[in-house]
Amino acid sequence: MISSPAQQAVDAAITSRRSIRAFLPTPVAHEDIAAILQVAARAPSGTNTQPWKVYVLQGERKNQLSGAILAAHNDPEQAAQHKEEYAYYPREWVSPYIDRRRKVGWDLYALLGLGRDNKAGMAAQHGRNYEFFDAPVGLIFTIDRIMEQGSWLDYGMFLQNLMVAARARGLDTCPQAAFTQYHRIISEQLALPESETVVCGMALGVADLSKIENSLVTERMALSEFVKFVE
Ligand SMILES: Cc1cc2nc3c(=O)[nH]c(=O)nc-3n(C[C@H](O)[C@H](O)[C@H](O)COP(=O)(O)O)c2cc1C
Repeated sequence: MISSPAQQAVDAAITSRRSIRAFLPTPVAHEDIAAILQVAARAPSGTNTQPWKVYVLQGERKNQLSGAILAAHNDPEQAAQHKEEYAYYPREWVSPYIDRRRKVGWDLYALLGLGRDNKAGMAAQHGRNYEFFDAPVGLIFTIDRIMEQGSWLDYGMFLQNLMVAARARGLDTCPQAAFTQYHRIISEQLALPESETVVCGMALGVADLSKIENSLVTERMALSEFVKFVE
């Protein structure tokens, strides 16, 4: 198969994407954020419904949201009162998903030198989500509650486009379901209309490659494990 420059560029943007969990303070130009979102919005969606809505947070507005969430998150009593509105994960974990989930968690914590009994260290690492891992840009994604499962599928394509378009510009991301737990705080801070629900958040910026957590490379199944060429 002949490999064209376009194929190489697209493959490189896709395969070089990793979830980045430590960012440099380097700002991202407004034009770059706008261009990435415009490219992302070329995602397909059933009957072109385009169910995405994005809140871009930077500077003080981002810090305010982080502060409000962390105040709740760092107080176990308050944190227990915040529950996600939709189930991102299965209610009952079974193999092989639980094994993969555990592996990525332990691999990250091992890199950070966090032993399996270091609950405080793990909680602190989880809390880093709410600072968008220090990224200069924090994105919050919402969807109209009226939309059904198909639109969430469309949303995933939009999010992936965004992450790949960021990569093509030398930027990195971390998609963050962690924000869904604090949707009430987000709704209040961003004055979301009642019709909107939080899909997830995302950190966007320049990766700090000196940080050990960014050396994590996750595994993928071999093709033969998830593909059947039907004859
Ligand atoms: C929708 C979505 C939500 C995620 N939420 C979080 C999160 O809250 N915090 C986090 O550190 N990683 C989060 N991740 C990153 C996953 O852990 C990561 O994609 C997976 O382990 C594969 O690693 P890779 O992205 O580096 O390829 C999320 C990924 C997706 C797609």
